[in-house]
Amino acid sequence: MEKVVTNKHEAGTAGKAVIVYDSCYGNTEKIATSMGEAIAGGTRVVRAAEAHPSDLKSVEVLIVGSPTQGFRATKPVQEFIKSIPEGALKGIAVAAFDTRMPADDVGKGLRFIMKVGGYAAPRVADELKKKGGTLAGLPEGFFVKGKEGPLKEGELERAATWAESIIKKGK
Ligand SMILES: Cc1cc2nc3c(=O)[nH]c(=O)nc-3n(C[C@H](O)[C@H](O)[C@H](O)COP(=O)(O)O)c2cc1C
Repeated sequence: MEKVVTNKHEAGTAGKAVIVYDSCYGNTEKIATSMGEAIAGGTRVVRAAEAHPSDLKSVEVLIVGSPTQGFRATKPVQEFIKSIPEGALKGIAVAAFDTRMPADDVGKGLRFIMKVGGYAAPRVADELKKKGGTLAGLPEGFFVKGKEGPLKEGELERAATWAESIIKKGK
């Protein structure tokens, strides 16, 4: 599914931005959509399974988001990144985010494992850099209450602010 979102503020300020995301229960999709709405200029929000390297043509900013599953991004996100030719992200500002469970919401044992195992966004950011992208901000995690969500309060707003900061740095 591809959505083109426009924003009531100055259309065109984002240059060309694409947000590629995956989502099992809808939480990461909500975050991606909130980011798309925050960035002006008809940002494209594309599901990873439907994304293609040709979507990156004339793009200035690429943001990739995934639910953290087993400490990493989902298969469609990993496969989308794999499909990007070496060096194809040269000159493109990139950033990564994930959704995840707050460490405080799980038991002590699992908390330790999650801390050691890590999260999707830093791994995705590394992969995007390896493909030639310039990191426009630190990888960020947004929190869901339990496996299926919903999102914790305030996360949609936090996502919008984060995306705006990426666009500013990516220009
Ligand atoms: C198979 C599976 C593995 C998961 N592994 C992790 C994990 O390693 N760390 C974590 O914080 N959350 C983990 N979660 C919780 C997901 O991060 C959560 O389901 C996701 O953020 C919800 O986003 P979505 O609605 O877009 O799918 C896991 C969930 C599933 C279903």
